[in-house]
Amino acid sequence: MWFPHEQIDWGQGENFTTRPWSESDYPLPTGVRSSIYVNLLTEDNLPYYTHSLLAHAPKGHPIRDWNHQWTMEENRHAMVMRDWVHISRCIDPTLLEEGRRVQMGKGEVPEPESIAELISYVSFQERATQIAHRNTGAHLPKDDKIGRNVLALVAGDETKHYLFYRDLALAAFAIDPSTMMIAVAKQVSSFAMPGTGIPSFTRHAVRIAKEGIYGLAQYLKDVLDPVLGLWDVNHLSGLSEEAERARVDLEAVVAKITETVERMSQKAAAHALV
Ligand SMILES: [Fe+2]
Ligand SMILES: [Fe+2]
Repeated sequence: MWFPHEQIDWGQGENFTTRPWSESDYPLPTGVRSSIYVNLLTEDNLPYYTHSLLAHAPKGHPIRDWNHQWTMEENRHAMVMRDWVHISRCIDPTLLEEGRRVQMGKGEVPEPESIAELISYVSFQERATQIAHRNTGAHLPKDDKIGRNVLALVAGDETKHYLFYRDLALAAFAIDPSTMMIAVAKQVSSFAMPGTGIPSFTRHAVRIAKEGIYGLAQYLKDVLDPVLGLWDVNHLSGLSEEAERARVDLEAVVAKITETVERMSQKAAAHALV
């Protein structure tokens, strides 16, 4: 249990009308600024995620109760992050609001086609957002204790949500391994972070990856490896022919990502030597 209003030092705040935002208010590398911007806008988009989740939750089914609980907890992420952003002046509030208007005006969200695809996707996505918030917090200046604490609290909620979905998917694997295998393979090959409706998303994503906060390397090491390992996808038995083919496809996708990540780190190492 934590309260968004208790995390902020309100006395630090200043009016933007009398003292407009400037980059020098809170010096930060561009990649870190991009990460705060993208992560907060992603949290803002919550109404559409809830809508997608409820589409797979029949009336009276217990998953609906979970969706409501989840939405209630997720909603405080954007609240507390925006309060911190406005008080600390770590990113441009006008740019942020313009981004929010564009993104929310589109209502763009991933739409998994079945409950199996949905619980696969959200397992990866909650883990990915946990890592993204955690790593962003670690890139803040040491003396911004409030910012570091806010992002740690948000990352903590994401961790709990991740554990729920990961275990739900594990239970589904025990009931119907073939359906889950096919769903997971499909989601891994097409996985994108949920913020694709954000203006200049790709440009920001590149900056965030360059900063070492979240990119293909973190997706492989901190998301795919632990989640697929826990589901033990390499040792599942009793798969249908189609599911067996999906497993082979999944292995190929992971191998390709591994190869790309290795190539990127070799390139970066060679660059560092020059
Ligand atoms: Fe969140
Ligand atoms: Fe989340």
